[in-house]
Amino acid sequence: MKMIHTAIGCGLGAVLVILAGCAPAPEQSAQRVEQAQPEFKSVVPINDVMVSIIDHNAHIIWNAAGDRSPGKRTASKYTPKNDQDWHYLEHAATALAASGNMILIAGPPKDDQEWVKNPEWRKFAQDVTNAGAKAVAAVEHRNLEELGTAGDDLVVTCEACHKKFKPELPAHVAKPSEQPEHYPKNETKAK
Ligand code: HEC
Repeated sequence: MKMIHTAIGCGLGAVLVILAGCAPAPEQSAQRVEQAQPEFKSVVPINDVMVSIIDHNAHIIWNAAGDRSPGKRTASKYTPKNDQDWHYLEHAATALAASGNMILIAGPPKDDQEWVKNPEWRKFAQDVTNAGAKAVAAVEHRNLEELGTAGDDLVVTCEACHKKFKPELPAHVAKPSEQPEHYPKNETKAK
């Protein structure tokens, strides 16, 4: 009987199919969703994503945005001046926007496995995504003030998440001269 009902329901047209549907039994559809998930490979530890992707690109954004304290907003050698500079920033902003999702994928360390399941962690990761998306928009608009705001959002997120999940990490935002590894050689040499 059930089979027949289903068959009749399905014959009633697209709208009904969507609304009431020809959806398979719940356990069947859950299985399908599971099968449809891409397989994430647990290759890169979250700590490495932090260092090589998040921290690296955040510094590029922060330094381009410059000193944000009132009365101190002067241009520096990191202030974007031409299309090429903005293009470089586009890479950093895009990497950050993508990185929020990257830290939802656990790497091999055991801590990673626990962190990604934690709803608070997932919320912080979403905040990184949002700040990254804001930075992408700022670059599209060639708007340094907007880029600065995205950078401010990022700082808040980094600090809040570290405080919660790794309180022993320093919260200091390093200057370019302290972290020359974030910049091509010719940009740090003169400093
Ligand atoms: C969702 C939480 C979360 C967010 C958001 C986050 N971090 Fe992290 N970060 C961590 C955790 C946890 C570790 C330590 C990982 C470990 O020990 O395996 C870490 C590690 C690091 C490290 C490596 C520290 C070391 O000594 O090896 C750096 C650098 C870093 N984060 C920078 C940043 C920056 C910059 C931001 C913001 C732009 C940020 N993080 C945002 C959770 C977060």
